Amino acid sequence: MSLIDWSEAYSLDNQLIDNQHKKLFGILNKLHDMSPGDPDNRAYTITVERLWSYANYHFIAEEQLMSDVGYGDIHGHLQQHKLFTEKILHLKEMLGQGEQESSHELITFLGNWIQRHVMMEDKKIPTANNLIDPSPVS
Ligand SMILES: [Fe+2]
Repeated sequence: MSLIDWSEAYSLDNQLIDNQHKKLFGILNKLHDMSPGDPDNRAYTITVERLWSYANYHFIAEEQLMSDVGYGDIHGHLQQHKLFTEKILHLKEMLGQGEQESSHELITFLGNWIQRHVMMEDKKIPTANNLIDPSPVS
């Protein structure tokens, strides 16, 4: 069973950010379905590295969008992104120390966290699409 299933409910009406969220959900689902196994499990470690680099890449894009649209609570939002990346760093450290078993719990935490974050925080951002293309009322 997937950790997070994408649905339109998560959409920000911004294709770029929506696609990035889908990809992020996908990496977390992949990790959730994988067994961390022994410390030599390269595939697991590589996927955690991918989560780390993709989350950073995505947050930079989202922070750029917030800055472009002059979003008011950018500071508070950035703090939340920092918390998420710190948790991934912790995950990397755990793997480096051979604590594979406890990593599964952290993956579940990250999955639940990103779901809540998209629904509660990202949805507050007036997206570029909304600004450029206000749908005409018919
Ligand atoms: Fe965000």
